[in-house]
Amino acid sequence: MANFSPPPGTADIFPEEAAWWQRLEQTAFNIFPLYGFGELRTPIFEFTDVFKRGIGDETEVVQKEMYTFEDRGGRSLTLRPEGTAGVMRALLNTDVMNGNEKRVYYCGPMFRGERPAAGRRRQFHQIGVENVGTVSPEADAETISALVQYINALGITGFRLLINTRGIAADRAPAEAALNQFFSSKIDGMCQDCRARLGRNIWRILDCKQDGCREIVRQAPDYVSHYTEESRNYFSRVCSLLDRAGIAYEIDPFLVRGLDYYVHTVFEIVHTAGLGAQAAIAAGGRYELFLPEARKPICGVGFAAGMERLLLVQQALGVAPPEAVFPPIFMVSMGHAAREANIELAATLRCSGLPVIVEFEDKSMKAQMRAANRAGSRFVVIRGDNELEREVAICKDMNDSSQIEMSVMALESFLKDKHKESMGENV
Ligand code: HAM
Repeated sequence: MANFSPPPGTADIFPEEAAWWQRLEQTAFNIFPLYGFGELRTPIFEFTDVFKRGIGDETEVVQKEMYTFEDRGGRSLTLRPEGTAGVMRALLNTDVMNGNEKRVYYCGPMFRGERPAAGRRRQFHQIGVENVGTVSPEADAETISALVQYINALGITGFRLLINTRGIAADRAPAEAALNQFFSSKIDGMCQDCRARLGRNIWRILDCKQDGCREIVRQAPDYVSHYTEESRNYFSRVCSLLDRAGIAYEIDPFLVRGLDYYVHTVFEIVHTAGLGAQAAIAAGGRYELFLPEARKPICGVGFAAGMERLLLVQQALGVAPPEAVFPPIFMVSMGHAAREANIELAATLRCSGLPVIVEFEDKSMKAQMRAANRAGSRFVVIRGDNELEREVAICKDMNDSSQIEMSVMALESFLKDKHKESMGENV
């Protein structure tokens, strides 16, 4: 039997569902500019090195999850697994390296070859921002505020904001030494993956999900106390700015994030509704990215929210569906001449911004009314030879089945008024 399903881990988004997506986007487009962010659209594939160098060779995303292919010239390209690296590549073409700040937001599909599950797709969508070019705890706190304002505006309640600090490169060696000493003494109780991480990337032990490892991690030393005073002050300042903004957060020392570019502040917004176990609906932090051929790292702070996950949480919380837009006016024609006239009237109404569907097939009145019902129309315009002759039309209101006959001119202004009324209600 033919199978018309899309590939595993991908999905089709039909118009009813698309209205939910459009609301996610529209809300972002309304809020992010309040913080000076403008939209940046980058390609959905990049040279593979942008991600290898940007995200880090050792990360799970780069090692196991990228969709990589060669172009005809034999160059390695990769479908973007996240937005930040490509955005930085694009900004290197601007004056951002001269200390000029750039604030951008982006939205679109990302690709990771993960095992599909609730809220985990191979093609998923992110909406995110990056504030690039400056280093300041104020920028970190403001970016978190923008995210919280966005999540609130979507009607999402009951989330937790987790934050932590990764320090800077100079903080890592003493912190790693303390963690190394501790985990080396506990190696017998750790999973195979964490044993390998001990030599390669000790930080990933901190967010291991295995019960045995979590038990050990809970007793790990306070590695942040090994950071420089400057880094600790930086983090305290971010926390006090969040306090002053009235944003509730929890400091989570086990939040390390899976991408290698982070320094200083990292954060995640987690939720349980609709996602099975607790999952991150948005995440981000401050970063330093080394891209191929760049003279020095590019720094910034940003986040990305997973759009599929935002929708799952909204729907699980019972957030009201997006308001229906004015449903299309449906034109029923009895006979050829009436259809011609209806096609013309439809064109006029559309020029005034009204949505209209004309039935093109020669169907019975009953069949055309059924089609109007399927289209979700409220107002149906009905004309036949008799109405044409008298320059009138019948307008049926499907809400109460009432119908009135009126002149074509009166009909036009009646429908425009109804449209205006409904748009007013939707603002
Ligand atoms: P990330 O944590 O890899 O960070 O992804 C951000 C969000 O994208 C996650 O919190 C989750 O909501 C969503 N997400 C990730 N993978 C999937 C998937 N397979 N299916 C569905 N949703 C998913 C980043 O991507 C960073 N670029 C964020 C950032 C921006 N950091 C600084 N600036």
